[in-house]
Amino acid sequence: VADMAEEDLYIVYKGVHLIKQTHTPESLKYYDEFSFRPEDILIVTYPKSGTVWMQEIVPLILSQGDPVVVDTVPNWSRVPWLESRAFIHNLDQRPSPRVFTTHFQYNMMSTGFLKVKPRVIYVMRNPKDVFTSYSHFSRMTSYLVSPVTQTEFLHKFLDGKAIFGSWFNHVKGWLSAAEQQHIMYISYEEMILDLEASVTRMAQFLDTPLDSEMIRKITDRCVFKNMKKNKMSNYSLMPSKMMDQNGSEFLRKGIAGDWKNHLTAAEAEYFDEFYRKQMQDVKYTFVWD
Ligand code: A3P
Repeated sequence: VADMAEEDLYIVYKGVHLIKQTHTPESLKYYDEFSFRPEDILIVTYPKSGTVWMQEIVPLILSQGDPVVVDTVPNWSRVPWLESRAFIHNLDQRPSPRVFTTHFQYNMMSTGFLKVKPRVIYVMRNPKDVFTSYSHFSRMTSYLVSPVTQTEFLHKFLDGKAIFGSWFNHVKGWLSAAEQQHIMYISYEEMILDLEASVTRMAQFLDTPLDSEMIRKITDRCVFKNMKKNKMSNYSLMPSKMMDQNGSEFLRKGIAGDWKNHLTAAEAEYFDEFYRKQMQDVKYTFVWD
């Protein structure tokens, strides 16, 4: 929505922009005081990095390929966001292993999380593709400010003023988590390159042995063209006044490298230079580099 003032839509929490409508003082307090169990599983992403994809894969791994949950429960209830107002009821009553989502940066995590150390799968994506996906997403949702121009949104994104803050701080923060044994790092691009191998690695991390037939079944359900048809995961259940999928769908392209169709050469160059400065001390080898 281009016609609403940003301060009407957003709040700043621990230095990061969040959505006022969903992230209320009550929901943020709930998350801050949340009682984690060691068996819990957390899917952690910067927005537009493959969250809903993970909300499909992880439940299928835990059910050993039984599709009932992903066929009957919307992704946002199946693997709820801990920071969102909509989900603050009854999570305590869920049986283990519970699976949750969060877009929080590492330094926003609670002391309870740091103490209990539930398992985390942290998914990263090429930030130029994140930016591209985010630009389309901002235009289709009523609860984000539509970018007036691409350049304006580019600066907002790079300067960490987009919702959930700086992509750079997000990735650097989680990559330098004090304890990493309970964290599995994977990228969207690895999943695109070899989904079967990625599912296998996740199943191992989650201590859920799956035979090759089950892995193949899960992979087949989760490839873009098949997952796009699942109305429990493609956001078609979301009212169109909140998310208008007529112009651009939530499961939009599902590829690596779409930034080439979106950024001008000058913008890509500016982005790369910014990236180089921000990431120069990061030792992790990213697939997109
Ligand atoms: P694009 O807009 O580039 O298509 P998130 O769930 O974190 O908001 O991320 C959304 C992005 O993940 C979208 O990217 C969406 O198409 C992509 N995505 C979702 N499911 C996918 C799948 N099964 N395979 C590949 N990409 C997927």
